[in-house]
Amino acid sequence: MEAKIYKAVIFDLDGVICHTDMFHYRAWKEIADSLGIPFDEEKNNRLRGVSRMESLEMILAGSSVSYSRREKEAICARKNSLYRSMLKSMTPADVDPAVRRMLEELGADYRIAIGSSSRNATFILEKIGLLDMFDAISDGNNIKRSKPDPEVFRNAADMLGLSPYECLVVEDAESGIEAAGNGGFDSAAIGDAKGCARATYRLDSLLELPAVLGRR
Ligand code: BG6
Ligand code: MG
Repeated sequence: MEAKIYKAVIFDLDGVICHTDMFHYRAWKEIADSLGIPFDEEKNNRLRGVSRMESLEMILAGSSVSYSRREKEAICARKNSLYRSMLKSMTPADVDPAVRRMLEELGADYRIAIGSSSRNATFILEKIGLLDMFDAISDGNNIKRSKPDPEVFRNAADMLGLSPYECLVVEDAESGIEAAGNGGFDSAAIGDAKGCARATYRLDSLLELPAVLGRR
């Protein structure tokens, strides 16, 4: 790794470092079924990077019933309790050992941070044994606007004392690539986000990241 233009890498969590998408899907599916609203994996994919309440609003768009703020908060709480009971089963084995090694190596040359819309980010990082690996954790607990607003990434850069142009964002969601672009960050897309025109780089695997960082 020679030409170090970026000083930090800000990682999205869900779908990038670990794969909680199926848990989100199963929890929302149970909620949607109980409300009689059609919901499938394709609809779940559109909720990536979107906050819990905004996800619920998107699901409720398929319902003819209107819900009060208090009812929506109760539904979100129910979804979160289902989701957290699934998260409890996560262990360090849920992180690819090669990804863990890559993060360790990257951490020697770059500051590394989390930029996640999730309010469960710390809990997940603890379960998968990565909580101490990151220099900063910016998550859904300290933002007013979720992706595609860049607030969560700006907070991460602020925590690191860096400017957006010094940080590379890694994302699997279109909303996350848009958030990075809206905040003046370069981005590396993996998974579905690779189809996003605003991505700076496209990765087939997270393990390609060191090569991308050495490239500029
Ligand atoms: C994002 C997920 O990381 O976090 C979204 O991609 C999710 O699907 C959002 O809705 C909020 O998560 P949580 O854990 O706060 O409900
Ligand atoms: Mg994600």
